[in-house]
Parts: sequence; C-alpha cells; structure tokens
Amino acid sequence: MAWLRLTLATAALAVCQGTWAQSPTYGVGRTPTAEEIRAWDITISPTGKELPKGHGTAKEGAAVFANKGCGGCHGASGNGGHAPTLIRSDGVHSTAATTCLAPCVNDSNAMAIHSPFATVIWDYINRGMPLGEEGSLEPNEVYALTAYILYKNGVIKEDEILDQETLPKVKMPNEKGFGLPPPWKHGQPRLQGYP
Ligand code: HEC
Repeated sequence: MAWLRLTLATAALAVCQGTWAQSPTYGVGRTPTAEEIRAWDITISPTGKELPKGHGTAKEGAAVFANKGCGGCHGASGNGGHAPTLIRSDGVHSTAATTCLAPCVNDSNAMAIHSPFATVIWDYINRGMPLGEEGSLEPNEVYALTAYILYKNGVIKEDEILDQETLPKVKMPNEKGFGLPPPWKHGQPRLQGYP
C-alpha cells in the first residue's frame, strides 16, 4: 500500500503545482517603485560593481571613526572593546583579556586581515554600522572608514584614495584563503554522504 500512498501524494503535489502556476491575483500588495527597490537593494558583491559614487582616505576615516562613536564598542583604537576587533592590536589586547563575542574576532581574524574582498568591509559597515544607527552613514564616510581600517591593518597606504574603482582592486592578504567551493553538477546531492 505504501506505493499507492506515494503515488497519491505525488499526484496531489502535481495538481498543486499546476494550480499554483495558474493562480489568480487577489489585488493584494503593489509593485514596488524603482526608488523603493533601490533603497532595499544595497548588497555589494565582491566585484564591487554595485558600489555607489564616493571616495575616502584613512585620514578622513580616523575622524569619522571618532565622530560616529565606533570606538565606544570597538575600542578607541579599534581593538580591546567588547565588539569585534577592527584593527589588529599586535598582542596588546589578547582575546583572554577581553570578553569576546562568538565567533571571536581578534588580532588573527579581524575582517581586514581575514576577508578575501575589501568590498565586504564596505558592505558590512554600510548595512550594519554604527549598531543601532544602521543606514545613517554617507557613502564617503563608508569609503573613509574602510580606508582607515585597511590602512591601520597594514593593507593599504595612508594616502590611498578608496572609491568605487579602487576599492574592489585592493589586494587583500587572505584573498586566496577560502579556496573555491566544491564542484557540483545539477542532480548531484549537495551534502556528501546523503543519498
Ligand atoms: C553600539 C555598539 C557598536 C557601535 C557604536 C559600532 N559597532 Fe561595529 N559592531 C558591533 C557589534 C556588536 C558587532 C558584531 C556584530 C555581529 O557579529 O553580529 C560589530 C561588527 C562590526 C564589523 C564587523 C567585524 C567583524 O570582523 O565581524 C565592522 C567592520 C564594524 N562593526 C565597524 C564599525 C564602525 C566603522 C563603526 C562606527 C561607524 C561601528 N562599527 C560602530 C557594535 C558596534
């Protein structure tokens, strides 16, 4: 009987799918405006092609870091606070000495050192910081903060100008650290060992 139940279930699914494809509209909701989509669509990919116009340097970033209160959570020098380490402390603040959120971000895996792409830092700050006032930073401020964090971790020079062209080209120390995803072909199980 198991086969019959399975057949019935499959048939029911097929019917549902067919109905779904032709389902009527109910007059609920509306098409979002181009402006609304632009406001939601803030994801920056590794290539940085979605980056907005703007620019910033490490010097400008140091001022923004101080003015926007980043140090209140991350430590005045970008380390030693309760929030993740942004600037390597070179051992001054060991993980053991500070309460570290899990997963713990410290000298060895601060974003500027660990991330394969500089655009990740820009995207993170732009979408999530300062915590509690997300979305309040202007593109120039985000470029400047990213430059400051990269400079202080020894990734770029102090006078380098980061903008939508130069930021994706920053050579990150861990660029190759993540390797390529395992090869996959359509129809293969995603998880090895599961049929
Ligand atoms: C109110 C506290 C607070 C303030 C202010 C704040 N942050 Fe954060 N920040 C956090 C916390 C907490 C996290 C970790 C969030 C998580 O892991 O989910 C974080 C994460 C980050 C990260 C990612 C770090 C990593 O390696 O995962 C960056 C980059 C960052 N903040 C930059 C900034 C900058 C730049 C500012 C100032 C504009 C700022 N933050 C202000 C609390 C804060």
